[in-house]
Amino acid sequence: MSNNFIPLSANELVKRINNIPKVELANLPTPLEFLPNISKELEINLFIKRDDCTGLAFGGNKTRHLEFIMHKAKMGNYDCVLTGAATQSNWCRQTVAAANKLGLETFLVLVRGIKGNQMQGNFLLYDILGAQVDVVEGENVEDIPEHLDRKYDELIKAKRNPLLIKGGFDIKDTVLAGISYANAMAELDFQMKENNFMADHLIVTAANMTQAGCDLGSKILGWPTRIQGISPVYWEMNIKEDIARICNKGAEMLDIDLHFSADMINNDNNYVGEKYGLPTSEGIASMRMLAKMEGIILDPVYTSKGFAALIDYVRKGIIKKNENVIFIFTGGGPAVFAYNEEIANLK
Ligand SMILES: Cc1ncc(COP(=O)(O)O)c(C=O)c1O
Repeated sequence: MSNNFIPLSANELVKRINNIPKVELANLPTPLEFLPNISKELEINLFIKRDDCTGLAFGGNKTRHLEFIMHKAKMGNYDCVLTGAATQSNWCRQTVAAANKLGLETFLVLVRGIKGNQMQGNFLLYDILGAQVDVVEGENVEDIPEHLDRKYDELIKAKRNPLLIKGGFDIKDTVLAGISYANAMAELDFQMKENNFMADHLIVTAANMTQAGCDLGSKILGWPTRIQGISPVYWEMNIKEDIARICNKGAEMLDIDLHFSADMINNDNNYVGEKYGLPTSEGIASMRMLAKMEGIILDPVYTSKGFAALIDYVRKGIIKKNENVIFIFTGGGPAVFAYNEEIANLK
């Protein structure tokens, strides 16, 4: 980071972000709620940022990303959108919904993942939303770009003009998604001021771009907050380097003199469990705890693992008594219905 960087106000950050074109898809700002019962139990001040309430087809963090990523859908003569991930992907659900709003058909290429093609959760929602779906063998989401290139050629041969969106695998998309979360940090800046506190910790379940936006936004605004990403996946790539790279490109785009390196990024993969897409008993226990004490339902693949980490950090003293903590609830709720057996069997 540049030593003489002067933090921006939230208003100034929003002004710069507003220079980047986008389409409106989300209900913003999402609420910031205090959680009185869990706060008492954990002896901290815990707030939850309700990004599950962004509104588009059951909401989630991807709606914010798509506001910026989907702008290019209006720029070319595209007649459809092509994207992919695993069969229970929240990204794909929100992308199909966004494309529908923009009047474009969507083709999805999905690795079978843990859940395959059972008509439940997100997979059921692709069907209701009217996407054209191909399911391919395998579980590794890092294989997706290759499958997407193949499908792209097939669509071109069929005289279609697809907008190919590689999302987390495309540096331009990840930077735009990061910008959308820098915007969420500006929202939080206003909301913390209204509530008279500054967060000591911000916990977000993050594969890469959402955390990058949190790191970027919080540094631009000069917060003292420790931004902690909890990974839902074991990456083959160096994720801290990837997050720092997204932050640097985002800073450049916003004309901000900040430099990020991997050692500034906190991302913990100790709560993934066996693998991506398989719930953990600690995650499901944390999901049940939040549901029982505050009436909020997390998801089994991402946020329940993030919330389990938060509870463990309190137990280990990483988060200390009376500290102010924000948990970003990035959505993913529809997956609970696809994971009914795992959830019912993990008490
Ligand atoms: C519910 C939920 N939380 C968190 C994430 C991680 O977001 P990102 O890949 O932007 O880090 C995802 C991504 O798929 C998600 O669906």
